[in-house]
Amino acid sequence: MTAGRVVTVFAAKGGCGKTTFATNLAVALHAAGRRVCLVDLDLAFGDIAGSLTLTPRGTLSVGDRVWANMPLSAYRPGLDCVPAPMRPGDAERMPPTLVRELLILLSTRYDYVVVDTPARLSAHVLTALDVSSHRVLLTTPERPALAHLRVTLDMLDLLSIRGNTRTVVVNRADEQTGLTAADIDEILRNPVAAYLPSTWELAASINRGVPLAESEPHHPFSTAVRRFADTRIRGEEVSESLF
Ligand SMILES: Nc1ncnc2c1ncn2[C@@H]1O[C@H](COP(=O)(O)OP(=O)(O)OP(=O)(O)O)[C@@H](O)[C@H]1O
Ligand SMILES: [Mg+2]
Repeated sequence: MTAGRVVTVFAAKGGCGKTTFATNLAVALHAAGRRVCLVDLDLAFGDIAGSLTLTPRGTLSVGDRVWANMPLSAYRPGLDCVPAPMRPGDAERMPPTLVRELLILLSTRYDYVVVDTPARLSAHVLTALDVSSHRVLLTTPERPALAHLRVTLDMLDLLSIRGNTRTVVVNRADEQTGLTAADIDEILRNPVAAYLPSTWELAASINRGVPLAESEPHHPFSTAVRRFADTRIRGEEVSESLF
């Protein structure tokens, strides 16, 4: 059996849309017939469980230890979720090695493991970025978010995480921020893989507990996420099977 892929969604600036994108990406991969697990690594303030209507499915064993505070929950058959722990302090007690074990274990059970992260390079996040086969780096078209992303890219360069194992996605790309695509390119000095539109319907979808990619698969936001999933994430399956 080939191991599944771990895809981590990260942005060093808060509120860029990591949770929104990770959730909709997981739905898009699942809609393509893949087994998907969405992991909430925003251990202190994770809100995946709050933005999906989940059904508890028991507890995951990691090696001979138990991922006691991260029960596995089902969203749809073939789309599971590991929500963040609920009790304060749980996050701090969790060793980063457990994150590595969890992601590796999940990659043996699912085709894709999509990881949502907090907006800081914690040891847990660095571990997830390291274990991942693909990293999606999100930004909005605002100078602080772009500057944070540039620093993140520098750090990934230092770790030799380059080429097509990382992609940059600009969320809320159509908002009138005064920056052109050329300005964004100049600040980032890195190609942009996808531009996602802004839409109020995302807030409504989060409140309903059903991601927009599921409730409205033909919405421009859902279409953009699906295209990204098909070309940048599942595209690697195609190129691997050719060689
Ligand atoms: N493309 C978009 N159009 C409109 N609203 C959006 C878009 N993407 C995200 N949002 C909204 O922006 C807010 C922040 O999004 P989200 O929670 O996904 O960001 P985050 O990066 O996970 O934040 P945090 O750093 O707090 O974890 C939410 O209210 C969400 O509905
Ligand atoms: Mg979030």
